[in-house]
Amino acid sequence: MIILKDNENIFDNKNLCLVPTMGALHEGHIALINAAKKTEQEVIVSIFVNRLQFNDDLDFKNYPRDIEKDISILNRLNIEYAFFPDEEYMFPESGFDKLDAGNLGKKYEGNSRPGHFDGVITVVNRLFELIAPKTAVFGAKDFQQLFLINKMILEKKYNIKLIENKTVRNNSGLALSSRNHHLSKKGIHQASFIFKSLNAAKDEFIKTYNTIDAVKVGTDILIENNIDLDYFEILDHKTFSPPKSTTKNFIIIVAAYVEGIRLIDNIQFKVRATK
Ligand code: PAJ
Repeated sequence: MIILKDNENIFDNKNLCLVPTMGALHEGHIALINAAKKTEQEVIVSIFVNRLQFNDDLDFKNYPRDIEKDISILNRLNIEYAFFPDEEYMFPESGFDKLDAGNLGKKYEGNSRPGHFDGVITVVNRLFELIAPKTAVFGAKDFQQLFLINKMILEKKYNIKLIENKTVRNNSGLALSSRNHHLSKKGIHQASFIFKSLNAAKDEFIKTYNTIDAVKVGTDILIENNIDLDYFEILDHKTFSPPKSTTKNFIIIVAAYVEGIRLIDNIQFKVRATK
């Protein structure tokens, strides 16, 4: 594996599959890297904790970092390149494109984390410029992020194929996240009710087609388990907006706090057209 801090023109004319990450690698990231390896392109994993996507400076400072462990994981996975750019290289004083994630970037996750998605698509755009991958892999866990990156690819007319990888969970259904490092054992157990709440809301919605009832079933589970809710929404998967009577593909998204740690998750499902 070659470790790079800048592109050194090494990526020119290469068939690359990019997996962008912020490090503290876990099985969720590893699943993305394995999906990248299946493309049979050369795999490049970037690790960059992107200050621009943190609206809270303390959150940025406390973000888990373990570069030695990350390098040993990447070595074991036998990928071609690891990209660890520094801040000056990613965001040069001479200037770089600062992107605006638009209206959808201000809703749901973006409503609670102002500027978050502007920061995300700015850094992903910068990675695309520097690396020019043919393919990029992202996790379904951060679905709003994936949706906005896809929109940016279309708007900027990048010839990049986006691969969506399903969410990796622990035995009790909790979506793996670098933030889970901050939870106690009790917190990990408590947080497993987030996925249970999504499943319960999904089952209720499939039974009743009633959004309000389904959201209530889901949020009641969170309340019973002392989980502080931020949002719980049933959306059209294609438009990432409130469903219409013709919607067939749905996504339920949730953000909640356990032991003060913000966690997000979602569940996607199909139904026949609603009544
Ligand atoms: P990070 O949180 O490190 O996640 C990197 C990638 O791993 C994202 O595509 C995310 O959706 C995916 N991922 C995280 N947990 C996952 C899980 N449990 N199952 C499947 N995939 C999972 O997301 C970011 O970094 C940043 O916003 C980034 C895109 C790198 C831009 O800075």
